[in-house]
Amino acid sequence: MLSELMSQKEWFGDILGKVLFNREFSESQKAGIWPNEFTLHRSPDRAFLVLCYIWGPYLSDTAHDHGSWGIIGSFMKPIGERKYMRLDDGKKEGYAELKEVSSTVLQPGEITSVLPLNKGIHRMENRSDDVAITINVYGRSMRRGYIQFFYPENRAVTRVYPPKSLREALAIRAAGALSASWSEDLLKQVLSSELTDPIRKEGEYSLARLKSSL
Ligand SMILES: [Fe+2]
Repeated sequence: MLSELMSQKEWFGDILGKVLFNREFSESQKAGIWPNEFTLHRSPDRAFLVLCYIWGPYLSDTAHDHGSWGIIGSFMKPIGERKYMRLDDGKKEGYAELKEVSSTVLQPGEITSVLPLNKGIHRMENRSDDVAITINVYGRSMRRGYIQFFYPENRAVTRVYPPKSLREALAIRAAGALSASWSEDLLKQVLSSELTDPIRKEGEYSLARLKSSL
């Protein structure tokens, strides 16, 4: 179905028109982790989501995982993709060892796919000075609230949140990293309030880090 959708191009003009001229459409777009992302369709039962990414010249994302399965189609202009395999067991906080297993260029009309979590670590890259466009379909997320960015050359991994929770997570990490006189009280206060699971984990991790540094 994605191939069929991508074989037609006319509908995409309507989408760009909405982005540029339809305030209601623009306001309905939730700010996500990726600034080049546009939401095209949410299935009413939330079973899947259709997104579009517009890749400016040489724009690449950071190697990342996903909370769900995904199907990614090159819609207009070629787009590069590197896939990675995770070699470590994920037990050490912040540590990840990746091995690149493929580096390909998807031509318009071609499709790649990812699986959730460690089975779908990849990175998309526009390797040209032209704009590339992908249409991405994602399923229901089995891990909500964040994705992970990987830095293979530093053997590192970090949790990344949508803008609103990112600010909370950064504030919590800063409190943990600064080891100030108020850090412990602030983190305890955070942990006693109502939090989403990923943000609670950030608080617990920062408090543990703070205590180990005292
Ligand atoms: Fe991805």
